Amino acid sequence: MAVGITALGTYAPQRVLTNQDLEKMLETTDEWIVSRTGIRERHIAAENEFASTMGVRAVQDLVRRHPDALAGVDFIVCATSSPDALFPSTAALIGGEVGLAGVAAYDLSCACSGFVYACATAHGFIAAGIARRVLVIGAETLSKIVDWQDRGSCILFGDGAGAAIVEAVPEGYGFQSFALGADSAGGPSLYMRAVADRIPGVEKDLMAPKVGMNGREVFKFAVRVLGDSGQQALTKAGLAPADVDWLIPHQANVRIIDAARERFGIPEEKVVVNLERYGNTSTASIPLALQEAVDAGRVKDGDQLLFVAFGGGLSWAAGCLKWYGGAGAMVTGAAAEVSA
Ligand code: UT7
Repeated sequence: MAVGITALGTYAPQRVLTNQDLEKMLETTDEWIVSRTGIRERHIAAENEFASTMGVRAVQDLVRRHPDALAGVDFIVCATSSPDALFPSTAALIGGEVGLAGVAAYDLSCACSGFVYACATAHGFIAAGIARRVLVIGAETLSKIVDWQDRGSCILFGDGAGAAIVEAVPEGYGFQSFALGADSAGGPSLYMRAVADRIPGVEKDLMAPKVGMNGREVFKFAVRVLGDSGQQALTKAGLAPADVDWLIPHQANVRIIDAARERFGIPEEKVVVNLERYGNTSTASIPLALQEAVDAGRVKDGDQLLFVAFGGGLSWAAGCLKWYGGAGAMVTGAAAEVSA
């Protein structure tokens, strides 16, 4: 059974924090941030905005674009590292706000790899007959969990949310492969404490309740793993880098993206990059990039996409997707017939 994305929606908070704003808060410069990361500004959630409220906004955007999209949704998966609460899940909170109370819902914790993991999960649920139409969400208020005193990490992150409908699509479209992984040996390079006062490999006095990161280690890991997992996903799908129309990477750092692109020999014009305006929005970054590319008419019906992501865990996730429906397939029509 072919399973793909048939609808998308996104949201970014109104407030924009520029590198110039950061210059006033930290010992940093716009020049340093742009040259090391490519980021120029990021969106920051208001005090009363959280992962669930932003996720709701992304779902509302999806419904605005595809009015029937929520009909028949029978599972909600929300990938987030900044949930409102450990429970109720952010997925359940969003479901309750968008008219899906009672629908199965849970959060997926896999840091920045989460959106691709959630797509793989949705694909599996549908293939196994557990669900037919899954609402996949990536929603983050990283601004509320980063250490604003740590100039080595806080300059990277931003807030945002993306939502997608994953369901049956006509044969020849949809997800062709996934390559997922995680290895806690790298855990101390990117972490945030929760209930336990221990994370193996992290000294206790470094365990403030904020994101801790060793940028250099994560950088090296990311360059290696994006290339390896992307290649694995391509091989599983029987594809070569030359078949890729659009590389849609997790938007962490333009230097990391460039290194992955060069490894595949994919030309710059086939890579979707919007991190200069959003920073790293973790699980929201791939849907935010994909939505922009679809809206701009860049990603079109039948295009071959390759998602590559990495994050805390350390984790990684790549996926090949034959895009269905160009500028957003309506969920009525061909896809609905297939899933009926
Ligand atoms: O979703 C996953 C999230 N994490 C990541 O993607 C992180 C991946 N890593 C990176 O993106 C990069 O490692 C960073 C952008 C975080 C840092 O870039 P770098 O080229 O690896 O710099 P560095 O950590 O090696 O630091 C170089 C210098 C240091 O000074 P010294 O020791 O050479 O004197 C830092 O103290 O830059 C200094 N520095 C800064 N200077 C100005 C660190 N942060 C800043 C800053 N402004 N914001």
